[in-house]
Amino acid sequence: LLSPDALFGQGRQNSTGFDLTDEETLTRIDAARSVALPDAAPLTVGAPDGTARPVVNPASGETVAQVTEASAATVAQAIADARVWDASPPERAAVLRRAADLYEENYGVIFAALTREAGKIMSDCVGELREAVDFLRYYAQQGETRTDAPRGIITAISPWNFPLAIFSGQIAAALMAGNAVLAKPAEQTPVIAAIAVRLLHQAGVPVSALQLLPGDGGTVGAALTSDARIGGVVFTGSTETAKIIARSMAEHMEPGTPLIAETGGLNAMIVDSTALPEQAVRDIVASSFRSAGQRCSALRCLYIQEDIAPHLTEMLKGAMDQLGVGDPWSLTTDVGPVIDIEAQEGIEDYLRQNDTRVLHRLDAPVRGHFVTPALLKVNGIADLEREIFGPVLHVATYKAKDIDKVIAAINARGFGLTFGLHTRIDSRVQEVTDAIHAGNIYVNRNQIGAVVGSQPFGGEGLSGTGPKAGGPLYLARFYAPATADANG
Ligand code: NAD
Ligand code: ALA
Repeated sequence: LLSPDALFGQGRQNSTGFDLTDEETLTRIDAARSVALPDAAPLTVGAPDGTARPVVNPASGETVAQVTEASAATVAQAIADARVWDASPPERAAVLRRAADLYEENYGVIFAALTREAGKIMSDCVGELREAVDFLRYYAQQGETRTDAPRGIITAISPWNFPLAIFSGQIAAALMAGNAVLAKPAEQTPVIAAIAVRLLHQAGVPVSALQLLPGDGGTVGAALTSDARIGGVVFTGSTETAKIIARSMAEHMEPGTPLIAETGGLNAMIVDSTALPEQAVRDIVASSFRSAGQRCSALRCLYIQEDIAPHLTEMLKGAMDQLGVGDPWSLTTDVGPVIDIEAQEGIEDYLRQNDTRVLHRLDAPVRGHFVTPALLKVNGIADLEREIFGPVLHVATYKAKDIDKVIAAINARGFGLTFGLHTRIDSRVQEVTDAIHAGNIYVNRNQIGAVVGSQPFGGEGLSGTGPKAGGPLYLARFYAPATADANG
């Protein structure tokens, strides 16, 4: 059983981050502009080999580092060399806390990598570092008094959109439970992963308990999810990839091997006629276009009650016009690049195919992989073909009497990650939040940026298996199930 302290997070504080309004802090951060990025390679017990390729800055198209992707032999050797972490829970917790401190001390190279490899704007860099260290300290606290046994080897597969926070959160939970971790970062963000793993090793995690295997999902990822020696898989990424992994695990692994999957969403928000328009517009813009819309939590389909729709839509267009799109280092930038040329071309294709629906669009910077924010008119969420992972917001209107139909249409899509509601009617908050199927529901605020420890994050249905990351139930999945006692 978790102690009340562990359950409610007493005695632990989330990181305070960096104050971007403070001149001295800004000067310190700005020094990271010129930090050279290290190359990335497998970090394994044995001598690794693999194939090198360039890592590209999405904002400029320039090569910023090289990555050596793990060969099949390196992956096989890493599985053979993996060893559970033979240290007491308090020792493991102390190492994870040391790693959190090291992350914070090394903010310069971390911000440089988040910006140049992942295209993150400065406020997102700050948020990402905060979330990563919060995960490390949160799971350290949750696990330090637990005596359960680990599962064995855990494969950790992560996406590029939170290349430090989600990458570190998966690893922190698996390590805190005493497992050996084989971490495969996204193809686009191996440098950030390599920086993080080096810091974890420096803090005291044995290499045999944490090996890094950069490489392609279809090869390295597939090998790490089709081996009977793996005791569990923690995955964050698209729903499609989660299904591929689930099939592979069912075919190759022991029955009951857990897959903890956090996946995509078709997230909606309802704004009724009692909402405060200025607040709603601010929260719609943040939910849709912050991080260039590349958050699983991002708002994809907005429903506005028809009585206020013309006014609110005009306000929204005006707010979009104020967004700065461009250089991720500039503090006046609100929207940075999308992750790569495939993402850029895919979103632009989608916008071309739907050009008759476009209500509003900004001009794009010419160089680099930018997609400017777009507002598209739809009849409802049923019109969305799929999750468009970028700064594209669909907007529909509804009549007050039809709100139940709107909720039914949202639920019918089968996802259930985030949902937003803007209203000043208390009974409506209760009715709508009871009826909607979503893991994280936000009322009269934006619907992104769940906070570790106080807003456990994760979806239901096609959006994930649970348990929620950054919540009190997550760590338990990384321990072996308790053996039944003599009384059954
Ligand atoms: P993705 O599914 O393409 O890739 C995620 C990871 O899976 C990468 O490391 C990739 O290499 C690996 N992978 C790909 N094919 C694989 C295979 N056959 N076997 C094993 N591993 C494989 O997703 P992405 O494009 O990196 O990330 C964006 C997606 O992630 C979006 O759908 C987004 O909604 C989702 N996401 C969800 C959450 C959440 O918490 N629910 C958080 C962030 C992102
Ligand atoms: N945890 C991230 C958010 O809430 C995905 O935006």
